[in-house]
Amino acid sequence: MDRRAFTQLLTMGAGTLPLLGADAADNDNLATDDSVKSDDVATSSGKAKPTMPEPVNVADFQKLAESRMQNATYNYITTGSADEITLRENVEAFRRMKVFPPLLKGVSKADLSTTVMKRKIDMPILLAPVAAQRMFHPEGALASARAAAAAKTVFAVSSSVGHSVEEVARAAAGPKWFQLYVPKDRAVARQLVQRIDKAGYEAIIVTVDLGEWKDADRRDRFTLPKEMLVKHLRDVGYTQVTNEMSNEEVQAFNLKAWEISLSWEFFGWLRSITKTPLLIKGVLRKDDAEKAVSLGIDGIVVSNHGGRRLDGMPASIEMLPDIVQAVKGRAEVYMDGGIRRGTDVLKALALGARGVLVGRPYAWALGADGEAGVRKVLTLLREEFENAMVSTGCSKVSDINRSLLMS
Ligand SMILES: Cc1cc2nc3c(=O)[nH]c(=O)nc-3n(C[C@H](O)[C@H](O)[C@H](O)COP(=O)(O)O)c2cc1C
Repeated sequence: MDRRAFTQLLTMGAGTLPLLGADAADNDNLATDDSVKSDDVATSSGKAKPTMPEPVNVADFQKLAESRMQNATYNYITTGSADEITLRENVEAFRRMKVFPPLLKGVSKADLSTTVMKRKIDMPILLAPVAAQRMFHPEGALASARAAAAAKTVFAVSSSVGHSVEEVARAAAGPKWFQLYVPKDRAVARQLVQRIDKAGYEAIIVTVDLGEWKDADRRDRFTLPKEMLVKHLRDVGYTQVTNEMSNEEVQAFNLKAWEISLSWEFFGWLRSITKTPLLIKGVLRKDDAEKAVSLGIDGIVVSNHGGRRLDGMPASIEMLPDIVQAVKGRAEVYMDGGIRRGTDVLKALALGARGVLVGRPYAWALGADGEAGVRKVLTLLREEFENAMVSTGCSKVSDINRSLLMS
């Protein structure tokens, strides 16, 4: 947030929130004129872009995405598994936590930068691995990569993102991690890891909470179009899959292509073929965190897959303190699930996370407005987080600590 916008917030009160990060002169009529900064061109989904004010928060991007995207694709992003208990808890648990700011700390600006896996980035808000991004916007992960690079933060690229390792690497020079779904064919898996290393990815995330179980997707019969699935399988290294195959043949191949019964031994194998830092994503239990540390895994992502897998699991933020305590600084601890506001970032860091990953916030923004949308949502989260830091007297990320939360 630039200083002028922050000062406007201080001096003009909550009614001016839409001015944050925007030029006040452009926004005189924002509250009354819905057409400001919107346009009417058709989107890739075929829906006409409705007239809406410029988004000022993540929830606005969600609404915009809903109005602009195909229903089944929007539902794929937005919904959670079964009764969505975990999905709701991820968000609600943050809302229950209260920030408890000390006064008069003499702080008027904050340095949001931090270091992740030895790389300095501009803010501890990273893009989580999100599959199927070409379904949200034609430029898919290329747009996300450019937006993350502009924000000088990490883009964690899903194995199933819709573009190859090399295509995403070429899209922008910013720091990238690769999230690996493991091909069952170990020769393909080995080659993929070699390509990830060669393309300059700075860490590999192994997601271990596999298998989404979402009623909405079954109801909508949401699947990747055949051409996208063929490209995905070929991108991973299954070059025997071709567009000449029937849809049924490609689907059947896909079902058998992935290692879905992973065990801890996998990390030993992975470590033996790459020196790149490794993270494990999907950890909620202390004993699993301890096991990961004992295997020399460099980072842990506390996550329940955004409430998209087994319903009824606890909110990630509620499990974070246990994991931080178990890890005792021997690995970097991240969390994701339910981050919608800058104050959520502050809360997660106060409980010991080194950084947070966001999924739906940027998926909605990508669907709503491509690269510009992702840039904007990252800017909004950055501004909110800076406001949260300044308001709690933190001039740097390492000032954030547990005393900022009511116990
Ligand atoms: C549309 C969508 C697709 C996802 N695809 C993947 C994936 O391919 N790999 C993965 O590890 N996690 C995937 N996730 C989970 C995210 O990495 C992350 O854990 C989750 O979105 C965080 O919760 P949030 O959406 O509340 O921020 C996906 C999430 C969404 C919303």
